[in-house]
Amino acid sequence: MTQDEMKKAAGWAALDYVTPGTIVGVGTGSTVNHFIDALGSIKDQILGAVSSSEASTARLEQLGIRIFDLNDVSELAVYVDGADEIDGSMAMIKGGGAALTREKIVAAVADRFVCIVDGTKTVDVMGRFPLPVEVIPMAREYVARELAKLGGKPVYREGVITDNGNHILDVQGLQITEPKALEARINAIVGVVTNGLFAERGADVLLIGTPDGVVRKGA
Ligand code: A5P
Repeated sequence: MTQDEMKKAAGWAALDYVTPGTIVGVGTGSTVNHFIDALGSIKDQILGAVSSSEASTARLEQLGIRIFDLNDVSELAVYVDGADEIDGSMAMIKGGGAALTREKIVAAVADRFVCIVDGTKTVDVMGRFPLPVEVIPMAREYVARELAKLGGKPVYREGVITDNGNHILDVQGLQITEPKALEARINAIVGVVTNGLFAERGADVLLIGTPDGVVRKGA
């Protein structure tokens, strides 16, 4: 089974968590693209979606799924998104696709976060995948120096501008044993918009695509 087939299995399994007649929170990435395709198969049963990126919005619209502005939506039953790494406490590193800020905002509104991954994304300790940090462009080098003081090696993701017009630093070499504390510490650096640690608001449900089928954790 290829990695993409595992992503697809997890993406389609997430349909079980979508309640008919509701607006669905939709993340970003190659795993979510499979979920969006799955959502297209039940598009007449949902009101529409709140999207976390321009890329997901385009794919949803292509399938005829109505997009809602988050400011017009007071509650979301579910948010479905992928992750770059997820640990045993359901904390995640996200932002490999640079959509972390909007993802974190939509996830904050949702009652339930369903994380969909292939079997390569589960880890004991996060940090092998570089931690993305979205920064205001003029603060980039200052934030990089502050991140280095925390023991990481920040690398500017050259050529990438986020949907919000900002830059991304990818922090290499971290061993993230206390994700909630590190998430708060990085957010406190002036010039940081968001960091890719989703620990304070982790996943509630984890769907892992494996060659033996989809493994489900959480509720
Ligand atoms: C997007 O910014 C990310 O948070 C994605 O959710 C994450 O990178 C997982 O992406 P894939 O599903 O493409 O691996």
